[in-house]
Amino acid sequence: MGPVPIFLEDVIAGLSRPQKALPPKYFYDAAGSKLFERICRLPEYYVTRAELALTRANIGAIARFAGRGCALIEYGSGESLKTRLLIRALRPAAYLPIDISEPALQRAALKLERAFPWLEIVPVNGDFSRPLALPAPRGLAKRVVYFPGSTIGNLTPGEAHAFLRMTRGQVGPKGAMLVGVDLKKDPEVLHAAYNDSRGVTAAFNLNLLGRINRELGADFDLRRWRHYAFYNAPLGRIEMHLASLEAQIVNVGNYRFAFARGETIHTENSYKYSVEEFRALAARAGFTAEKLWMDRKGLFALHGLKAA
Ligand SMILES: C[S@@+](CC[C@H](N)C(=O)[O-])C[C@H]1O[C@@H](n2cnc3c(N)ncnc32)[C@H](O)[C@@H]1O
Repeated sequence: MGPVPIFLEDVIAGLSRPQKALPPKYFYDAAGSKLFERICRLPEYYVTRAELALTRANIGAIARFAGRGCALIEYGSGESLKTRLLIRALRPAAYLPIDISEPALQRAALKLERAFPWLEIVPVNGDFSRPLALPAPRGLAKRVVYFPGSTIGNLTPGEAHAFLRMTRGQVGPKGAMLVGVDLKKDPEVLHAAYNDSRGVTAAFNLNLLGRINRELGADFDLRRWRHYAFYNAPLGRIEMHLASLEAQIVNVGNYRFAFARGETIHTENSYKYSVEEFRALAARAGFTAEKLWMDRKGLFALHGLKAA
């Protein structure tokens, strides 16, 4: 659970905007992290399978690029699934998983401790959208930042730029970064991935309102809201919204918000980048895109970045 005053402030600010919106980082409480793990296993959600497959197929080259014995820093580590492949191949001196979801972070760290007893694991429960002081791992190991799962797509291009500049500072002139980026593709494939037939993505989206009820004492009636996700082609992003099924008033703390029938709360973006678009973004933040690994169907890209 994050500090309540900041969560409340962010919710009030987001619901006070002309297009009501909530920051996607609040999806990830204990229930939200578990739902996200289920999304990763859905038949329609190609993202995790494609990234796992390309990582497995290219693990030797990825390890040569990143270098053995580094300090491996992962942002938005969640269940650290793909990271297991990297840990085996890189034998890092230390692993620093960073996640806003304390339950997901602790669960992953426990499992990793059992699987890799030789590894120094330093979990950091923090928010990467704010300045974050990282504990210094022992020794002078080279730093490699890992940012898989297309989490970078959840940031606006401006936020992604600021994030890459921050990590560029963290890895220094000799460090490297591995970023998993979802590629532009057939909108039907994208649409299916965010509108799965089992309704797990809908439950994940709606859990945000449930969390606001649980932690901030709000009175959202979840039966009056529907998950709504579509591909916005001009902006190159999936947008997730929650649509109000009728005119209604919702109380959050001492605040009241009126929703018209059909009005939406914008809850998440997932930007899709062509290889060239992502390389240009990385270059503006001081990185050279040296390596590129893709799955066989060309669904997903893992970029190997070095300091420019
Ligand atoms: C799209 S999921 C990806 C999870 C995992 N890395 C993967 O590849 O499947 C995003 C992850 O980032 C975490 N996260 C989202 N926003 C964050 C923030 N502002 N600071 C830290 N972690 C964040 C979530 O808790 C979640 O584990």
